[in-house]
Amino acid sequence: MKENLVVAVVGATGAVGREMLNTLYTRNFPATTVKALASSRSAGTKVPFGDEELLVEELTENSFEGVDIAIFSAGGGTSTKFAPYAVKSGCIVVDNSSAWRMDKRCPLIIPEVNAHTLKEHNGIIANPNCSTIQMLVALKPLHDVAPIKRIVVSTYQAVSGTGQKGIQELETQVRKLFNGIEPENEVYPHRIAFNCLPHIDVFLDNDYTKEEMKMVNETNKIFEDDSIKVTATCVRVPVFYSHSESINIETTKKLTAKEARAILAKAEGVQLYDNPKENMYPLAGDAAGEDDVFVGRIREDESIENGLNLWVVADNVRKGAALNAVQIAEKLLEMNLVHVKDRNLFM
Ligand code: A2P
Repeated sequence: MKENLVVAVVGATGAVGREMLNTLYTRNFPATTVKALASSRSAGTKVPFGDEELLVEELTENSFEGVDIAIFSAGGGTSTKFAPYAVKSGCIVVDNSSAWRMDKRCPLIIPEVNAHTLKEHNGIIANPNCSTIQMLVALKPLHDVAPIKRIVVSTYQAVSGTGQKGIQELETQVRKLFNGIEPENEVYPHRIAFNCLPHIDVFLDNDYTKEEMKMVNETNKIFEDDSIKVTATCVRVPVFYSHSESINIETTKKLTAKEARAILAKAEGVQLYDNPKENMYPLAGDAAGEDDVFVGRIREDESIENGLNLWVVADNVRKGAALNAVQIAEKLLEMNLVHVKDRNLFM
């Protein structure tokens, strides 16, 4: 393993960036130096790193000199602009934005699902969308036994997926409503407090949202199978942390609910939480702050021959973003892949 490893977190002041620092610290990531980078707005401020604090530096094209791995969570525009400079400096990028996910040069990785494709990396590795990650961690072990033909998913996504500003908007609106004041909407197009918005990211020409199409396209890429049909409805709900998903799958051969439970009970990164008689099923409130993907409400779909319904919940800021990104960085070390082949590939 490389000695004196230097790691940078880009977007270190944001909701995901802060969790990335926390994850690096709590998992004892073997970095000698951790750099916190953000915009000029927060340069000079400090962010917590375990018991210490890191001074936030302004992200510039030269920020990556001597940095081995940079984990980005500062939005697509920042990744598009700065990831190529990182690679040019010989730094490997793990990017949490959607900027590079569908780029053929960039593997899209969930360590439990497709770590083998990391070997093909060219310097930028993409972290999938939060909703895709938790869905595929739960579905991959079933797909290995009974290949999936079609997925119908509806999501119930927390406001932390929008970053610090989403958390702030829900909090402010709830406070105002309890004080009899009609709140304004600044982040979402409608009030999120006590509401559900079937609208995440922008609408596309096919009337799906970009978030919904991310779930479709990323699933095909990660499962390396474009024949799997996926249709998604993504909904923002007034929950701070953890996304919940209602997932229906159609498989090529019969998988009973009992068999599915047995498979998922042993699956990596999954906790089976399925005892309806005891009112036991995954809840956003319980998954918040946890690493695993929780699966319950497993039922056979009685309307088709080979189908299952599942309810899947995970902390979107952890497994959906920060933890998955840090796990990718850990895999890079484990597989001895901390080198850039062509520094100019993305310039
Ligand atoms: P800053 O705090 O300086 O604005 P969130 O998703 O929670 O809103 O966080 C977004 C993160 O991305 C923040 O750390 C933010 O830094 C950072 N960021 C946004 N735009 C840029 C930029 N142009 N350059 C560097 N960091 C950026």
